[in-house]
Amino acid sequence: MSKSVLLKSSIAKKYWMALTGLFLCLFLVGHLLGNLQLFAGGEEGRRAFNEYAYFMQHNPLIKVMSYVTYLSILFHAIDGIMLAVQNKKARPVQYAVNNAKSNSSGFARQMALLGSIIFIFIITHMVNFWAKMHFDGKMPMHTINKELEIQGQDPMTGQPTTQKIPVTYALTTKGDYKEVSFINPMTKVSENAVDIKNHTELYDKNSKLKIGEGYKDLHSVVLAFFGKKNDGNYPINDMGKAAAILYLVAMIVLSFHLMHGFSSAFQSLGIRHKRYTPAIEMFGKIFSIVVPALFAIIPLYICFG
Ligand code: HEM
Repeated sequence: MSKSVLLKSSIAKKYWMALTGLFLCLFLVGHLLGNLQLFAGGEEGRRAFNEYAYFMQHNPLIKVMSYVTYLSILFHAIDGIMLAVQNKKARPVQYAVNNAKSNSSGFARQMALLGSIIFIFIITHMVNFWAKMHFDGKMPMHTINKELEIQGQDPMTGQPTTQKIPVTYALTTKGDYKEVSFINPMTKVSENAVDIKNHTELYDKNSKLKIGEGYKDLHSVVLAFFGKKNDGNYPINDMGKAAAILYLVAMIVLSFHLMHGFSSAFQSLGIRHKRYTPAIEMFGKIFSIVVPALFAIIPLYICFG
């Protein structure tokens, strides 16, 4: 292959890496804003997070953005590895396309390694959350338990009596809570008040008509993953503390990757300006510290907070 073709393809790769990288930075901001809701406690916090997850899964525009995100992750990773291999094979070409500053930077030399660690993190992260949300048959529904008081009369003495029956309600997408099961006061056995299909669809037992749709309880899945007791009674991960520490390590790696990648993307796109470049570099540094730090605090807060 001639040098010029290699050079061109290197430049094209860097261009696409810059575009996909900056798009993934936007994804990180959106994802972080959604995840910050995990700081809110109680039923309100749980509700807000599960409503957000439902919106992300059902809004058509967000769905398209999700597919763009998956493709960007793949493209960015594959292009990055190819570029690293290409640079290693042809060192003089590497110096032709990169400037001296980025070549001397330790971050630049380690970008492929850092990126690969982040890629492994994303895959395992998606197996733990995204795959559960979409495919796990044991995914809990967002429900709350309450005790209903039933007034009656003692048949022997005629005295008024109060019986407490535990009832489970599901939060519906209309914002109300629908009764889904209760303990029968006569038999003391749990009975379903409605039929539940596909984890979240509520059907009237008699008419078989759909009467509402509930939310998956992703909030409980996240809490359980980081070892916390949760309202959905999702099985708690015994390695929750280790998971939180691993997330911290992954976020430190992400921080280093962004530290070089953010401003380098603007360079690859040919955006250089006497006045704006220092501001972009400064913004990149702040972004690279603040975004991963906030991501890292979430599991630590859930686990140890
Ligand atoms: C504390 C940190 C984080 C938490 C608690 C968290 C939580 C979650 C949850 C619950 C989902 C599933 C959402 C759904 O399927 O509706 C998800 C999806 C995802 N996460 Fe994270 N996340 C964290 C950090 C990150 C980071 C740092 C990255 C990237 C470097 C990342 C990349 C992704 C991706 C690519 C998806 C799939 C998104 C989609 O389907 O559109 N996450 N995350």
